[in-house]
Amino acid sequence: MSRAMIFCAIFFILAAAYAQRNEGPSVASEIFSVADPGSGSGDGEVDAWPEISTCTAEFAREPDHTMCLKDDDRVQTTGVTDSQKKVIVDYHNKVRRTVQPSATDLTPLVWDDNLAKVAQKLTMQCKIEHDKNRIIPSYGVFIGQNLAAGQRTWKKAMQSWFDEVLLYRYGEDADQYLGPGGWKKIGHYTQMVQNATHRVGCGFSLCSRTTYGKYYACNYAQGQSSTSFPYTRGERCSACPNSCKNGLCACNGKLCLNRGELDIDSCTCKCPDLYGGDDCSILHCPASDPFYCRRSILPADCQVYANVPHLCPYMCGVCGEQPLAMIANPNKSGKNRPEGTTRTTTSTTTTPAPPFISPHNCSYRGLRSNLEECKNFGDRGSDTRACASKGGQFGCDHCERYYNVKSDYCPVMCGICDAPCGGKVCVNGGVLNPDTCNCTCTLPFFGDTCSELACPDQDKWHCSALQAFHCTDYVNVPFDCPHLCGICA
Ligand SMILES: *[C@@H]1O[C@H](CO)[C@@H](O)[C@H](O)[C@H]1NC(C)=O
Ligand SMILES: *[C@@H]1O[C@H](CO)[C@@H](O)[C@H](O)[C@H]1NC(C)=O
Ligand SMILES: *[C@@H]1O[C@H](CO)[C@@H](O)[C@H](O)[C@H]1NC(C)=O
Ligand SMILES: *[C@@H]1O[C@H](CO)[C@@H](O)[C@H](O)[C@H]1NC(C)=O
Repeated sequence: MSRAMIFCAIFFILAAAYAQRNEGPSVASEIFSVADPGSGSGDGEVDAWPEISTCTAEFAREPDHTMCLKDDDRVQTTGVTDSQKKVIVDYHNKVRRTVQPSATDLTPLVWDDNLAKVAQKLTMQCKIEHDKNRIIPSYGVFIGQNLAAGQRTWKKAMQSWFDEVLLYRYGEDADQYLGPGGWKKIGHYTQMVQNATHRVGCGFSLCSRTTYGKYYACNYAQGQSSTSFPYTRGERCSACPNSCKNGLCACNGKLCLNRGELDIDSCTCKCPDLYGGDDCSILHCPASDPFYCRRSILPADCQVYANVPHLCPYMCGVCGEQPLAMIANPNKSGKNRPEGTTRTTTSTTTTPAPPFISPHNCSYRGLRSNLEECKNFGDRGSDTRACASKGGQFGCDHCERYYNVKSDYCPVMCGICDAPCGGKVCVNGGVLNPDTCNCTCTLPFFGDTCSELACPDQDKWHCSALQAFHCTDYVNVPFDCPHLCGICA
């Protein structure tokens, strides 16, 4: 009963872990809006824009980050003035305040200089093409983007995004009502009215001798995740009676970092496990990664699943090197082993090693445990009777499907442990002591592996009440009644 419960609970944890996939690229990162060419091209020859290096260490670590791109030498003038910033923020907030159907949970956007400098750098490519990597590493949130080119003014550029509202239907799948790829025709508008977006920062460049001349980009934190339900429909502000101001939930651009969640009524952040502080910016590293890191969840998963870096912060490099390379005790009570009792060598190589093939032909790619740790797994380091290796139900498939099968049931079959005592087997119900490598035998058997027989004169007294079928139905009967069961002649 309790085994079954443990098993199910753990399965659900794992299922949850793997269900939270990374968000794909934002919808807006596939689309842009252009005006008629020619309306703003600079014609006069000008000196090339002097390039300033913006590729600081923070961005240099990021693959293909926009801040590390080389500017186009046709850049003529760049930047957004303070009065334009106000125009941009006010325009977005007017749209957000007046959405139809009305929104219960939209906040006013606030200008963000970090977002703006990346957007600015993108426009200096003199292209209308979304960038590959625009993240602000310290934010730990996904960044959305709207682009426009050719319009005479910021107002006209934003108008081109807003005009998509004419096609838009709240709550419906754009691919259904606009045809395949329909979201591309409304994705700028839905980015403007996303409830998870609290900040905006934009850039502008005028590029001579280019098709469109004027290039506009706005980056949003965080980016949009739904075009059908960008916000919650209902009475304005009804989700935030305490923070409501002028039809919007006014949290002053508060952004919860590292995937924290904003409570728009109290304007406070609910932080994910590893983070704390007012905006979830403070990292609290646990003493060690849990057992399943490097065993069931492997380094390659850090990139694939959004929550794996939180589950295994050392393995994924969020918390740096694990100080003593400790592993948690997969104790059934769920408690961690006291610090410092176990050391393992955790390899930090990233090239996947060929899998280890266990004596039962299960293939295993994770970290293997030493014999000392293995005593905590399975039946004191041996497989339990639940495993195919001992005639049970769990086969190699189960090793990978459930993260606790390796540790709780089948450490040898699944490949995390070598068999204790060089694979010594105690027969006839004997139990191996992994410390002494002796077998504890059950009478009438004895000897090194319990293979020898010392028949008593008589069966135990209660055997006279039993019949032969009891010998196969109950595990203790053959030992108590060896004569009845035909073990002793
Ligand atoms: C945004 O609105 C959608 C639709 O109602 C809702 O599912 C989602 O939880 C909201 N997200 C945030 C961050 O408020
Ligand atoms: C599991 O934890 C309990 C309570 O902390 C402890 O008494 C027990 O010895 C631990 N078991 C193992 C196998 O370490
Ligand atoms: C493992 O595979 C080998 C080669 O395919 C085979 O000979 C052996 O019997 C298998 N062992 C088990 C326990 O299935
Ligand atoms: C283990 O078995 C050996 C040989 O049978 C014996 O000499 C030794 O005392 C045993 N050790 C323990 C701890 O029972």
